[in-house]
Amino acid sequence: MTEQSQLFSAAAQTSPAQAAIKTKALRDQLQRWAHQYYVLDEPTVPDAEYDRVFRELQALEAEHPDLITSDSPTQRVIGAVMEGLTPVRHAVPMLSIHTETDTEATGAQAFDARVRRELGLSDADPAIEYVAEPKFDGLAMNLRYEKGRLVQAATRGDGEVGEDVTHNIRTIRQIPLTLPDGVPPLLEVRGEVYMRRADFDALNERQREQGGKTFVNPRNAAAGAVRQLDSNITLQRPLSFFAYGLGAITPAAEGGLVFRTHFELLQTLKSWGFPVAAQVQIATGATELVAYHQQVGASRDALPYDIDGVVYKVNSLQLQRDLGFKTREPRWAVAHKYPAQEMATKVEGIDVQVGRTGKITPVARLAPVFVGGVTVTNATLHNLFEIRKKGVRVGDTVIVRRAGDVIPEVVGVMPGNRVGYVPNFHMPKTCPVCGSDVVRVKGEANHRCTGGLFCAAQRKEAILHFAARRAMDIEGLGDKLVDQLVESNVIRTLPDLYRLGLSSLVALERMAEKSAQNVLSALEKSKQTTLARFLFGLGIRQVGESTAKDLAKHFGTLDALMGATQDTAATVEQLLEVPDVGPIVAQSVHTFFQQPHNREVVEQLRACGVTWSESARADKAPQVLAGKTIVLTGTLPTLSRDEAKDMLEAAGAKVSGSVSKKTSYVVAGEEAGSKLAKAEELGVPVLDEAGMLALLSGPGA
Ligand code: IVH
Repeated sequence: MTEQSQLFSAAAQTSPAQAAIKTKALRDQLQRWAHQYYVLDEPTVPDAEYDRVFRELQALEAEHPDLITSDSPTQRVIGAVMEGLTPVRHAVPMLSIHTETDTEATGAQAFDARVRRELGLSDADPAIEYVAEPKFDGLAMNLRYEKGRLVQAATRGDGEVGEDVTHNIRTIRQIPLTLPDGVPPLLEVRGEVYMRRADFDALNERQREQGGKTFVNPRNAAAGAVRQLDSNITLQRPLSFFAYGLGAITPAAEGGLVFRTHFELLQTLKSWGFPVAAQVQIATGATELVAYHQQVGASRDALPYDIDGVVYKVNSLQLQRDLGFKTREPRWAVAHKYPAQEMATKVEGIDVQVGRTGKITPVARLAPVFVGGVTVTNATLHNLFEIRKKGVRVGDTVIVRRAGDVIPEVVGVMPGNRVGYVPNFHMPKTCPVCGSDVVRVKGEANHRCTGGLFCAAQRKEAILHFAARRAMDIEGLGDKLVDQLVESNVIRTLPDLYRLGLSSLVALERMAEKSAQNVLSALEKSKQTTLARFLFGLGIRQVGESTAKDLAKHFGTLDALMGATQDTAATVEQLLEVPDVGPIVAQSVHTFFQQPHNREVVEQLRACGVTWSESARADKAPQVLAGKTIVLTGTLPTLSRDEAKDMLEAAGAKVSGSVSKKTSYVVAGEEAGSKLAKAEELGVPVLDEAGMLALLSGPGA
């Protein structure tokens, strides 16, 4: 039994008195939701939920026609004029369109059959030509041009009277403000104002950073932007536009234009500078409509904007006139929906997930719900602040959104269904994967696991970072190999790398003995390193290559930095004495060496033979270039950029990326560009590689 027929049978069992009460309750509910949606721009339920209750009311009214009133939501197009915007009466009403809720192919077939019947065609007659278009998920707009100039933009409102939003629509770069010569003196172009997904994500990201209100979906964000009183706000919320039809137009007799088909009309609009979607296509007969529905449905996630279905329109304008209207809907067009991308469901629990960089993400465990074409049981809640802002608690009914290939997210809570007290969610104090402390850096929204090397969730990232060229420089230990090693559980912690034997490497897929040997010798070679490289390789948060160098230089030995025990490790105060180390870095280094797991990993690495000559500390090398700032540019004949940088830094120079008056030397190789020019302009001495080497060897440079 379909949902629809269930509703009908439920209605049939209702007594007139019960039906009257129920009808009123449903109408009040729909009215409230519609007000929140259209007037306040704050939807509280997903469209699918609204539609379900709307259909329930329709079914009840069909069963009890005496209960129908003219103000029932089923009897009019909903919408109200927001206070502050000027009402506009449309010259030609903006109609709604019949929606085929059957998301299967039969939706298109039913429409084609209806059109053929209305036109009195038999099976022997040829197929009808349609135009198939995406159904954009934004809001309808009427753009009025007089003598080729945009004079007014108005929302649909209730179809008869909309709102004047010209000031805001003028901020949309895709909408021409003037049209080429030869357009009819009066021309109303209709289409959809919407927000591209990327623009929506960026907007929400900005809102999140600034602690502002985030938007539920691109359509809601677009609607809010269009109906601002201050167009400066609209300007910050980038909108887009697609044209799909006409409103009023100068009659042909008075210098207007006559179009023969809808497709021709769209092509003309395009030639006048209006955006027309590339997906608009001619489709002949039901078979091609079905194919279009499937084809666009399959590429829906890849589109840069949201659509909630497709629209089929009879192409011939003469046939459109023949077909006419039924109440307020044209018989020549239909909207054929796709499965909803937002649905309501219940939060059964809130867990946390540890990402590969240690980020802890709260995740809602949901009662399974079919949304965006898949069954969803988990949705991200982003971070603790988002949970607090949205007010999500276990047991709540929430709106889940899954659009495109993105991870499903909880976008909001449906109000008023929480019974009794439910405690607020709290972040765990320790990592659920490795047990290390969980911290949040002041000013950051995310909580993180401090387990680093030790945490299984972060293992792959940690190993790749450790092996990187500027860290331990383990040649041949790349992405794919690390994946294999971690997934087959051969490597659990960094020290395991140095315990690798030939047999376990050769056992891996696509690993020949020769390559395995190479990896082993690269590992062996990497054991002889520097303290700075080792510290950088540990992947301590906030400790980049240059901080690692500063730490190595300042403390000289690892023991001075991490101490023999947790209690003797460098304090935050001691760390703050290191040049260029601020409170955030100091805290991060301190926390890292407080974790017993991390200390254990470091000890084991040393036990495996990782060593560095502490006497070869940078500050012990002859500092012939102390106080000099050097810029490297172009390709040097024998040294790589990294090698040159290491040599210069070992001699005490600071290697900088940009040339200024303070630059001591520019070392230029082949294909040096703007930096060389700048050096010449500022009179900074320029050296080649040989000159640089001479500088390094000669005292008193
Ligand atoms: S045609 C008489 N074409 O769907 C038909 N509407 O119409 C007038 N919509 O809110 C509408 N994409 O804004 C048409 N390609 C398209 C559309 C489209 C989206 C919206 C329109 C209106 C709703 C119902």
